[in-house]
Amino acid sequence: MRTENLEYTSTRKKGERIPLLIDCDPGIDDAMALMVARASEGFELKGITSVSGNLDIETTTKNIELFAKVLKLNAVLASGASEPLVKGKFSAEEVHGSDGLGGASSLFGVSLSGDRVQQNAVDTMRKLLLEEERKTAIVAIGPLTNIALLLKIYPEVKEKIRVISIMGGSLEGGNVTPLSEFNFYVDPEAASIVFQSGVPLILSGLHMTVDATITEENLEEIRNHSGVLGVPAAEMLKTYPGTAHPLHDPCAVLALSHPEIFTYEDLTVHIDTREGDSQGMSYKDERPWVKKETNCRVLLKIHQEKFRRLLVDTLAF
Ligand code: BDR
Ligand code: CA
Repeated sequence: MRTENLEYTSTRKKGERIPLLIDCDPGIDDAMALMVARASEGFELKGITSVSGNLDIETTTKNIELFAKVLKLNAVLASGASEPLVKGKFSAEEVHGSDGLGGASSLFGVSLSGDRVQQNAVDTMRKLLLEEERKTAIVAIGPLTNIALLLKIYPEVKEKIRVISIMGGSLEGGNVTPLSEFNFYVDPEAASIVFQSGVPLILSGLHMTVDATITEENLEEIRNHSGVLGVPAAEMLKTYPGTAHPLHDPCAVLALSHPEIFTYEDLTVHIDTREGDSQGMSYKDERPWVKKETNCRVLLKIHQEKFRRLLVDTLAF
């Protein structure tokens, strides 16, 4: 295990602003990830794409439009896959509420027209990647359906991707089954394609994100922020203090903007696509006698106090 800063060719150098795409299924913790990305000076957020996962594609698309407006983001918006590549649909409405935002969507005070949202997330990502001179980072915090399609249909984009920072999977335990985490459970074939793609990956798995929690005191601090986000965000997060609801998705953004708050190990990770309890299970292959490449930087531990401070301060907008 490495404990020094996450110095990785794909992560940000001091003072550098890296072009960024976020593919997401908001989702309360996805919404928090968008807020964390906006707050970081290290990114040029060029595109936000929706995928079905926590909620259906109509709702997750509405929510990317909502946060683009609330956070005054210039990013291109596009809607993506309405179902997984192979398996049937599976959502997490009971966790995120029917609006995906814990019933707080109307509190953000914006009206939506849908006009800004383009139709095809995969083509939009391709265009944004190819027209940018520099390599672009992708934060992928929903099922990996859009990303797998992108890499399969347009393999020429691979060399334009700096890194894909993923929230999904787990080296230990699951939240949908005893073995499987939600994003990989929903679309295991997509996850498997991405892990075999050869593109640099950073993984924020459940084994680490379970420590990305907030306290009641943190919630009060958020509520007391004077800006536009404090009250609606606190309402959205009102059931989050404690250990039952970690904020998984912001970890995949912080992995790029604040790598120093994580420890990591480079591993060879595979995804089980079979149906049953192991659907979407991620597992490492550490057999020394088998010749293989590592395919992923797996984040092992997060500095909980630093995470909480970054998250709370992010909401002062
Ligand atoms: C993941 O599943 C979703 O419910 C969250 O948004 C997060 O991306 C955690 O397992
Ligand atoms: Ca998510």
